[in-house]
Amino acid sequence: TRPIRIAPSLLAADFSRLGEEVRAVAAAGADWLHLDIMDGHFVPNISYGPAVVKAMRRHTAMPFDVHLMIAPVDPYLAAFAEAGAQIISLHAEAGAHLHRSLQAIRALGVKAGVVLNPGTPAGAVEGVMDLVDLILVMTVNPGFGGQSFLDSQLPKIATLRRMIGATGRDIALEVDGGVTTATAPRCIAAGADTLVAGTAIFGTSDYGAAIRSLRGTAVH
Ligand code: DX5
Ligand code: ZN
Repeated sequence: TRPIRIAPSLLAADFSRLGEEVRAVAAAGADWLHLDIMDGHFVPNISYGPAVVKAMRRHTAMPFDVHLMIAPVDPYLAAFAEAGAQIISLHAEAGAHLHRSLQAIRALGVKAGVVLNPGTPAGAVEGVMDLVDLILVMTVNPGFGGQSFLDSQLPKIATLRRMIGATGRDIALEVDGGVTTATAPRCIAAGADTLVAGTAIFGTSDYGAAIRSLRGTAVH
């Protein structure tokens, strides 16, 4: 069985106390911090930009998993690398030149990820497998936290696990949207190794217990 990483999504944190929230999830055992960047154009919501990412860097040494929901994406890659991202992911649907954008992320010395919307098939990453360090499967339509998990995406997770296996490379397979203690085991069974969770962590009063139960290591 593969180790499961938990990546709390800062979108569900208390925005008036972001630094404290980041320190709290780090202390509670989170593996990565998931940072959702929304532009009100690619998705129907606006979140925060590179200045906030950079400010969070002072609060933790956890890897920053930056999820860009913006278009165009290329003009902003350097700003997020400079802000302290270890992984930058962009949507396969965000531009005409996915391959070139992934090369640009790698050229910045950052790991590169591709995100697939619920309506986008696994095959969208086929031509760029050699350039990706992470594949993120959206299990809600992007833009908002607190939405319901889309069961229809589970077969795609399994397909991507097989595609990753065929490369022989260590590519992370991450799931984002509606991940709860009820849906996490199904994501893991389908082959996911990294779970993003906003509401299921920041919406509780015990972040450590929430993280352990999502990871499947809670004592019952
Ligand atoms: C949605 C974001 C998610 C979101 C998840 O567009 O990509 O990361 O914060 O929130 P929950 O876990 O509440 O569904
Ligand atoms: Zn996200």
